[in-house]
Amino acid sequence: MTTQKNCKFLKFFLTTIDQIFINFPDPWPKERHAKHRIIQPPFLDVLFLRNNEIAEVTPEGTKVFDAMNCTPIHKETEKLETENTSISKNGFDHFMLKEIFEQPDTLRQAMHGRIFQDLGTAVFEELNLSINELSSIQRILILACGTSWHAGYIAANWLEEKAKIPAQAEIASEFRYKNPIISENTLVIAISQSGETFDTIGSVREVKARGNVKVLAVCNARNSTLTRDADACLFLKAGPEISVCSTKALTSQLMVLSLFTLFMARLKQSLNLEEGQKFLTQLQQVPDQVDAILRQTEEIQSLAKKYAHYPNFFFLGRNYMFPTSLEAALKLKEISYINAVGYPAGEMKHGPIALVDKNLPVVGLCGNQKTLEKTLSNLMEMKARGAPLIAFAPQGTLEIESIADDVLWLPPTSDELSCILYSVACQMLAYYIALERGAEIDQPRNLAKSVTVE
Ligand code: BG6
Repeated sequence: MTTQKNCKFLKFFLTTIDQIFINFPDPWPKERHAKHRIIQPPFLDVLFLRNNEIAEVTPEGTKVFDAMNCTPIHKETEKLETENTSISKNGFDHFMLKEIFEQPDTLRQAMHGRIFQDLGTAVFEELNLSINELSSIQRILILACGTSWHAGYIAANWLEEKAKIPAQAEIASEFRYKNPIISENTLVIAISQSGETFDTIGSVREVKARGNVKVLAVCNARNSTLTRDADACLFLKAGPEISVCSTKALTSQLMVLSLFTLFMARLKQSLNLEEGQKFLTQLQQVPDQVDAILRQTEEIQSLAKKYAHYPNFFFLGRNYMFPTSLEAALKLKEISYINAVGYPAGEMKHGPIALVDKNLPVVGLCGNQKTLEKTLSNLMEMKARGAPLIAFAPQGTLEIESIADDVLWLPPTSDELSCILYSVACQMLAYYIALERGAEIDQPRNLAKSVTVE
């Protein structure tokens, strides 16, 4: 293709994309690669194009223009760190299973360098919001989609309960068409594993257009669109997540958001030193507790074998176990195509209980001590309607044995942190049920790792 054609094609190509970055031709001619082992340059010089900008790339160089009036735009190249990460399944059958088993390490990674035990708080070197800006926060609005929204829902509960800051988690695709009240001193937290989910980015641009709010991105991808739009970022450091079904990103989001909650709670003095140190001690036990759950593969696989043939499932929970049941149902839907629904256990009597019979397995998530008694009585109502009942419960909750057909015992932890442990157990149940059904686990039908269109 002649250079002329090159430029014409590139011009057309670039005007149709919202944002793209150009990396300059590799200075290492092909033959050199062949003869020598490929050595990836540590940095790439990149240019980030914004909306309505076009670039003309020729052997002589790159010129950027305003797409509307073709006036030249001066742009500095930026150095983009390249990670030489070889993405393999490391011997696992699927990326999803590999990423589930990475969680003890990714949880430690998410905590690494962010624990300040002596002061009972958390520190974030990358958080470029001032203490004044953070102390003046009066409300937190969380925006996200899919699994990230479930993490946001849990974080909103934590921020209200521990930091005493009014907080709500909105589904970004819905939020964009609401007429929200964005009051003074509102911090917007946008959660996205990829940083490229268009609904989340669109909702962030919406709030930015409405008022002077600060946006904090919680993200796993550096230099993604969201991290460029946001005022500040907290990174998950979970490494690439390949499986469409998000697993390690969720638990790392919860780890980072729990540390941010602690940081705000200590800043707002709604938690004192001892309470902060106690929360940190519990947090640091989570990776080992997740490890213990991963060692229950056989139990979970035999549960999956027993229940994989059912076409519908209910996941029930209260308090932190409710958003956990939403996430559990989403995992099963995404990879096994079973019609699974997560529901607040106390809500069943207001309608959905009409569906319950011997053909609809119910998974009761019993990780919250505060609501355990209520949850057990809700599960008894399911049993009374003939539902096959599986309970995920903390070791020692003996009452559940007389109610449930099957029990998976999980390490006891605080109500707030149980959502991390129970999410991992539910990820494994979904994985082994999908495996039993011969489903395409890493690339489920109709789904994309990141939806970059509306
Ligand atoms: C979907 C993915 O496309 O986007 C989900 O299949 C994910 O796994 C959701 O939770 C949101 O993605 P992100 O990257 O914004 O967290």
